[in-house]
Amino acid sequence: MCGIFAYAGPGNCAEVIINGLKSLEYRGYDSWGIALKTKNNIELKKSVGKVSEATELEAVKAYAGIGHTRWATHGNVSIENSHPHTDSEKRIYVVHNGIIENVAELRKFVSGDRFYSKTDTEIIPKLIARLLNRYSFPAAVKEVVGKLRGNFAFVAIDRDSNYLVAARNGSPIVAALNRNKFYISSDLQSLVPYTDKAFLMNDGEMAIYNLDDSSVEFYNFLDRKEIIKVQENYSVQFGDCRRGDFKHFMLKEIFEQPVRLRQTFEVNVTDFDIRFAQPLGAGIFKDINRIVIIACGTSWHAGLVAEYWLESLVRMPVEVEYASEFRYRSPVLSADTLIIAISQSGETADTIAGIKEAKELGARVLSVCNVPGSTIARISDATVFTQAGPEIGVASTKAFTTQLEMLFLLTLYLAQYRQKISPKDVINYLKNLAEIPEKMERVLGKTEQIIKIMEAHYTVSNALFLGRGVNYPIALEGALKLKEISYIHAEGYPAAEMKHGPIALIDRHMPTVFICIRDQSYEKVLSNIQEVKARNGIVIAVANDNDKRITELADHVIFIPETIVELSPFLTVVPLQMLAYYIADKRGCDIDKPRNLAKSVTVE
Ligand code: G6P
Repeated sequence: MCGIFAYAGPGNCAEVIINGLKSLEYRGYDSWGIALKTKNNIELKKSVGKVSEATELEAVKAYAGIGHTRWATHGNVSIENSHPHTDSEKRIYVVHNGIIENVAELRKFVSGDRFYSKTDTEIIPKLIARLLNRYSFPAAVKEVVGKLRGNFAFVAIDRDSNYLVAARNGSPIVAALNRNKFYISSDLQSLVPYTDKAFLMNDGEMAIYNLDDSSVEFYNFLDRKEIIKVQENYSVQFGDCRRGDFKHFMLKEIFEQPVRLRQTFEVNVTDFDIRFAQPLGAGIFKDINRIVIIACGTSWHAGLVAEYWLESLVRMPVEVEYASEFRYRSPVLSADTLIIAISQSGETADTIAGIKEAKELGARVLSVCNVPGSTIARISDATVFTQAGPEIGVASTKAFTTQLEMLFLLTLYLAQYRQKISPKDVINYLKNLAEIPEKMERVLGKTEQIIKIMEAHYTVSNALFLGRGVNYPIALEGALKLKEISYIHAEGYPAAEMKHGPIALIDRHMPTVFICIRDQSYEKVLSNIQEVKARNGIVIAVANDNDKRITELADHVIFIPETIVELSPFLTVVPLQMLAYYIADKRGCDIDKPRNLAKSVTVE
């Protein structure tokens, strides 16, 4: 989704902002722009496509600037619609993330102004400019921000005064001051090269940076009060943001999974006793009788896996909801409901809205999140953090498996809390969990075989993914991975549902990927495989080591080590991630930045 990066200070402003925008590229975008403040003017550059080198801009002697990567929402992909936007006098320039919902109503305040874009953003500089005959630039922004409805974060710069102003309401933005260098970004991670401390801004807050004396003030535009903020330390390893020798971030992140799982385990388990790195707080599980999991995308799939675990081990009713649907259908919640919100980024707009709705209805919220300091971590009653490190590839991999690990630990913890499991069984489960990284490394060693399967089938147009029980969500995840990065149409289904529709699609061109491990459904899934073969379909199976029966049936078998059924998703998902990756690579797709997709979906 859209990204914002702004800088004021010494050095080559254009270069700093261009580098900032490049570090936001992974979020997904289709056009970009930058406005540089020079002594008497503002230089503007906007472009469709990828952020280019700074060359022509580097010559501009600027001492502040704002930059933006745009992922089209209001208005098509074009130079006119890309940010920064300005007013009729070309005095105020604004970059903006989110959506201003009351543009139609606000237009009456700027009657006579000509609009050059189809965006909702252009109203902001025009409204600010209208007030400059009565107010200073920062005061004009304070007036305007109170009139805007919707979720937004924006940064404004003025040609004629020395301030940079940022405001946040619903969309993430952070600011950082390192001596006389001031940064604003929509993504904490992009500040890593410059500082390890930042002002984590809350909804309703504005930052006003004075370029003359390098000071920053904060203001709450909801309460109309000055506020004091201090910079907080945040921890993101810069080394983690590098691709190293891997061709794509996604491949690096797939191969990083065992390390990340070990780290997540070590941080939260001591001597086979679960002691979460972040204390959950005494009341979070008290008297709960029901769990509702909310999430989007891959995180939603992690929630579906957790539903199996929680129901079987905690014996509590669990529902898993798309966050976007949950909030709009009058959910029935009460104080005995625990919401578990799952989000890699901690900034997904629908999940944030779902959490807010749940809290208003009196439920408690526990989040599983990968980004400390993110909105979701800050608005939840308690948060446990995955140790995935920064995930750059749009298609989530290591965030997913570390989410699974945290959810399994939460399941065991809650089962213990409710006395549904013996200490001996907990230790046994944890021992099995501790073995997963090594087993996963063995699956990662199957690259050559997976590439061979890819070579045979990378040209297909459709694919089906089937699994049962705890591996049904993995079938969904396998299909999602394939479709999002290779643009092959793929669907995931519970294997038994095949006969209720998908079987009609099967012919000799259509591969079906079966997750067929030795669990209680094994025989039934074998029958499903036979049904596909009887219709000349292609079968790719993920099965347990030494499964001879499957070799006789399937066209290709990827063997994975044995583990307890509950933990099998950790191992079955990896070959599916790899298959999707190698197919997309062979098809020449832009794997880390698939078309139209965004890493962090910050609009509803
Ligand atoms: C986007 C990303 C997915 C991610 C989903 C939810 O669609 O492309 O990879 O699973 O958002 O994001 P979250 O950060 O909330 O887990």
